[in-house]
Amino acid sequence: MTRGLFISFEGIDGAGKSTHIARVAELFRQAGRAVVLTREPGGTPLSENLRELVLHEPMDALTEALLMFAARREHLVQVIEPALARGDVVLCDRFTDATFAYQGGGRGFDWQVLAQLERMVQQLPIHAAATAPDHQAPKACPAREGGCASLRQPDLTVWFDLDPLIAAERLASARVPDKFESQPADFFAAVRAGYARRQAEVPDRFARIEAAQSIEAVGADVSRLVTEWLKRPAA
Ligand code: TYD
Repeated sequence: MTRGLFISFEGIDGAGKSTHIARVAELFRQAGRAVVLTREPGGTPLSENLRELVLHEPMDALTEALLMFAARREHLVQVIEPALARGDVVLCDRFTDATFAYQGGGRGFDWQVLAQLERMVQQLPIHAAATAPDHQAPKACPAREGGCASLRQPDLTVWFDLDPLIAAERLASARVPDKFESQPADFFAAVRAGYARRQAEVPDRFARIEAAQSIEAVGADVSRLVTEWLKRPAA
């Protein structure tokens, strides 16, 4: 059976990732693959409810981080793991790197606490609740004993990197901003630094796209990246 593929798309608000996700989906469909297009926070009814809260209600930084991970857990259990088990291609508009960038970089929330939550939520195996009634909550990560059980992470993360000032210009002519979109430029500079830190930690899966280019040039870069990445022996 074809192996499932998990690709996430990241970037500060206004970086323009949504248009390109649709194109990547088309690329895979043309290659005969079943594609699941999804997003975070969101992707299940419960996670979409959490999205509403987290994007529009003011709240404590830890509460915000916990809600992001709660939405993610549900999304993994209900949508992402079953899709990967079927051999589908999962294209996810944001995943955990966004939490490190926004809550860690932007809000200044403790990076190590986020890493602990990441281990708790993404530790494999993750069973679909409906098919595993006796499923136990994830055990404490053995990282403290010197190694870490493997975590569910995207196989590839496409990071649309853009100067926050250009992103702000693009957003100004768009819709009514949510809680994050209405943050000042220095917040987005910190989010961008958060993404850069994440990329430095896991350079193998994290590909940077220069998002200041024209939409056509960005699209061409993304198609090239995905096509070449698929040719890698490990992919
Ligand atoms: P976004 O992905 O930009 O969706 P849309 O294009 O529909 O506005 O919006 C999600 C927002 O949530 C974005 O501002 C980033 C933020 N976010 C976090 O702060 N932490 C997270 O872990 C995730 C997944 C998103």
